[in-house]
Amino acid sequence: MKLAAVTAAVVILAIARPAAADPRQLVELPGPMQQHMMANMREHLKALEDILGALAAGDVTSAGDIAESRIGMSSLDSHGAAHMAPFMPQPMQAMGTAMHRAASRLGIVAADAEVEHSYDAQRKVFAALQELTAACNACHASYRIR
Ligand code: HEC
Repeated sequence: MKLAAVTAAVVILAIARPAAADPRQLVELPGPMQQHMMANMREHLKALEDILGALAAGDVTSAGDIAESRIGMSSLDSHGAAHMAPFMPQPMQAMGTAMHRAASRLGIVAADAEVEHSYDAQRKVFAALQELTAACNACHASYRIR
């Protein structure tokens, strides 16, 4: 009985507690641009999946090509980056650029690893991949669009 009362109190407290304020800055984008941005985001995550798949298959060249063409500096046009950037605060734009650069760096270290075939070169590929995901997370920690 006592346990039930304590459980009930905990449940009530958990429900009644006001939601913690969301610390991320809201960036207001016009509706169609929100959809475009979220579609880009889902494509970025799919690209990460495909990069990991290529690495798992031992195909470091494809991993690098995917990084460069789908998230790297060569992907800016296909993502409509020039069109979206003016709607973003300057630090957010910089975080976007940092992500594209990190992906292009991954493309370069992957090409190196294909030539070197060493443990060290492989480790650099993982380090570059982690820098890329860190760039995703840096922006996610700071901004929301809804
Ligand atoms: C310049 C900022 C920025 C960068 C860099 C960034 N994102 Fe996002 N992402 C956002 C914002 C803002 C949202 C919307 C969050 C919200 O409103 O709750 C989002 C949402 C998402 C979503 C949810 C999409 C949906 O349909 O719900 C995914 C998945 C995602 N991002 C993946 C990624 C991946 C993977 C990377 C890195 C390769 C990345 N993002 C890099 C800003 C960024």
